[in-house]
Amino acid sequence: MEFSIKTGGLEKQRSACVVAGVFRPRKLSPAASLIDRVSGGYLSGITRRGDMQGKPGSTLLLHNVPRIDCERVLLVGLGREQEFKEQQYREAVRAAVKALNETGVPEGVLGLAELPVKKRDIAWKILQTVLVATDSTYRFDRLKSKHDEENKPLGKLTLMVERGELKQSEAALKQALAIAEGINLARDLGNLPPNICTPSYLAEQALQIAKKHNLKAEVLEQKDMEKLGMGSLLSVARGSHQPAKLIVLQYAGAAKKQKPVVLVGKGITFDSGGISIKPAAEMDEMKFDMCGAASVLGSVKAVAQMHLPINVVGIIPTTENMPGGNASRPGDIVTSMSGQTIEILNTDAEGRLILCDALTYAERFNPAAVIDIATLTGACVIALGHVASGLYSNNQALAHELRRAGEYAHDRAWEMPLWDDYQDQLKSNFADMANIGGRPAGSITAACFLSRFTKKYSWAHLDIAGTAWKSGKEKGSTGRPVPLLTQFLIQKAAKA
Ligand code: BES
Ligand code: MN
Ligand code: ZN
Repeated sequence: MEFSIKTGGLEKQRSACVVAGVFRPRKLSPAASLIDRVSGGYLSGITRRGDMQGKPGSTLLLHNVPRIDCERVLLVGLGREQEFKEQQYREAVRAAVKALNETGVPEGVLGLAELPVKKRDIAWKILQTVLVATDSTYRFDRLKSKHDEENKPLGKLTLMVERGELKQSEAALKQALAIAEGINLARDLGNLPPNICTPSYLAEQALQIAKKHNLKAEVLEQKDMEKLGMGSLLSVARGSHQPAKLIVLQYAGAAKKQKPVVLVGKGITFDSGGISIKPAAEMDEMKFDMCGAASVLGSVKAVAQMHLPINVVGIIPTTENMPGGNASRPGDIVTSMSGQTIEILNTDAEGRLILCDALTYAERFNPAAVIDIATLTGACVIALGHVASGLYSNNQALAHELRRAGEYAHDRAWEMPLWDDYQDQLKSNFADMANIGGRPAGSITAACFLSRFTKKYSWAHLDIAGTAWKSGKEKGSTGRPVPLLTQFLIQKAAKA
């Protein structure tokens, strides 16, 4: 979808449809008032008669509005003016784009960015408009043999802003477009079936991104990982016919001496559970078990496209988790790259087994911070549902920055405890640790496991099991947490 920014009066735009808001009860927004004045009170006549009361999410499409140059005017309900906040702004944009889509117009002009949103500036409004609009027009139909040609989604949106905000808006739009592209890449990779999106496919994609954006890329093969002593990562790949890979992408936007932020993404392209096999129902959703990896690729791509003055490294351990004659067994003990030994009591707790070696590998980049992103535990879904990602960190400042970035981007994370008291649950009679900690606090003990491999740097862990995809009728990848990660990196680059 295309976006552009324009200044001037909404009432003067030539377009298939201009969009203006109405507060509850029946109060026209400034842009709607302008149209009202030119049209000789046409809109206030409608609100007076009660056809548009300003209920949040409601819309009314008008044709042939007197003395207005465009074919249609779309009114969008905004709710009460005092209650108009971030959520309401996003809802208004969503309702507008949905109505434009249903009308079938090829383009539209939005007069919503003028509305004040508490604590948020024009850059925020542009970002959110772009993210909400791209989200509501996203489709993944490339694997359907017939495409829906009749219902083409909206192709272009023009955002009206005030003259004094033009420069800031254009800069914000550039960033927003890069982020939206990163999100869509992450969604596409997540939605691709596991017979196409294999570890080799992910490596291929990483190389393509690197080529396009001039990044350094490296793909470590099984023999390279053996040499490095990645016994834990490789133990997960044993049951699969697909070779495991360790993908490393490096974006250098700042001086060499500046320590990089390292992103590590779980890339299980299919998680059957292995010998501790999962039940059949909804097992297809375990193709999404590489959404952490996808979010790293999407974020690195976005950062490169934004030319952020920061250094970023993306590391993706990727493999399938399959049963088979050569697969790891419950009871197996493996040695990780760190030298610590692990008793595998459940082969379905494989995410931590691939992440721990990637986290040890991250040490060599002398990182400012390491953030891993993983669809790690069903327990996190029970704890936080589909609203917030689980956030764990050994550094309070880092946790705070990530939380703040998530709030700004509307891609929120909530901090969970990493207290030592939970570490006891990982005790093993035969190795340094077990790979599971029992049912209580399953998301926390998974994070505790990772914390044993991240002692040498500032580290945060995002458990995105509940936020990376949706189930049910709207099944599909969400692209989260690309908004959070890119916002965090923008903030970091601004500080450096
Ligand atoms: N990929 C899953 C986590 C998951 C499960 C994400 C359901 C989203 C929905 C992970 O590899 C896994 O299987 N975790 C186990 C860990 C358990 C065996 C300790 C889980 O959460 O059940
Ligand atoms: Mn698993
Ligand atoms: Zn998994």
